[in-house]
Amino acid sequence: MAGALAGGSSPFRDGILEGKVAFIAGGTSGINLGIARRFAELGARVAVVGRNPEKAAAAAASIGEDALDFSADVRDFGAIRGVMEHVHARLGPLDIVVSGAAGNFLAPALGMSANAFKTVIDIDLNGTFNVFRGCHDLLAENASLIAITAGQAINAMQLQAHACAAKAGINQLVRVLALEWGPHVRVNGISPGPIADTEGMRRLAPDAATKQSHFERIAMKRWGEIGEVAECAVFLCSDAARYVTGTILDCDGGSGVGDATQRSVERGLA
Ligand code: NAP
Ligand code: COA
Repeated sequence: MAGALAGGSSPFRDGILEGKVAFIAGGTSGINLGIARRFAELGARVAVVGRNPEKAAAAAASIGEDALDFSADVRDFGAIRGVMEHVHARLGPLDIVVSGAAGNFLAPALGMSANAFKTVIDIDLNGTFNVFRGCHDLLAENASLIAITAGQAINAMQLQAHACAAKAGINQLVRVLALEWGPHVRVNGISPGPIADTEGMRRLAPDAATKQSHFERIAMKRWGEIGEVAECAVFLCSDAARYVTGTILDCDGGSGVGDATQRSVERGLA
């Protein structure tokens, strides 16, 4: 099940999120759904939002009978604010808000129309502003906000002008909001590396050769699991992270640090 750890056990105790309300924008598939499931397993009451209502309903059903699902586009401030007000009315103040909706496709800058570039900026960066700006007066005391960013924020990548710009903007937005909204709201980001069984990697590494070349470059020599990102999210919204704000937590097997291929080591020693 996405969200559960395939290769190890969780250090977090059962019930650690009991009584918490968690709102996950983009929580209807992939990494964000894994985070939503893990929050629910640990006792949180969870609401997930995506554009496609059938997909959102299926996601909520997979989380558990108490999970709420909504259809809204994060590019539409009024729509996403309306959903958050509804969740607040049903479940109470929001303790945890995750902004994870994103869009991506591979294209050179010269292959992107102005609208193609704008579309990804609107979903990822403006969408994160809308989610965080929209939830502020609905938050519980000591709330934790988490943006899902990516290595593209730091490492320039060809065919990714839109996602690089959007995710870099998200990292700075996280830092600014941490400064403006402390001490009672913490704002952090998680930067996953390549994560197996996700739409993101189906789009960015569609063939076996690209996948293999990724493995060689990563210190951990594998892609990550959805459950491993979910554990980082639990950490950030738990009391263990009560003095952590304005940070981006890399859950990337070391891929952001640099190229870990054996070949580079050998070249360096020669
Ligand atoms: P995914 O399965 O495609 O999840 C995207 C989610 O966002 C879906 O629930 C989708 O539902 C929703 N969404 C998309 N556009 C939306 C919009 N305009 N308004 C509201 N909801 C919207 O993607 P994923 O691969 O798991 O990635 C999840 C997050 O992790 C993203 O922020 C991504 O940038 C980040 N990330 C992923 C990887 C990776 O390896 N996959 C690596 C680094 C970072 P609908 O389509 O129904 O709207
Ligand atoms: N290459 C170049 N341009 C592309 C493209 C591609 N592969 N895919 C879409 N575009 C362009 C479109 O042509 C359009 O530009 P135009 O109006 O000038 O023709 C623009 O991007 C918007 O496309 P549209 O399909 O109308 O956007 P949408 O809002 O329906 O969907 C996307 C947004 C394009 C990001 C879509 O891929 C999506 O919904 N993604 C969500 C899932 C996802 O990406 N998951 C991985 C997360 S890391």
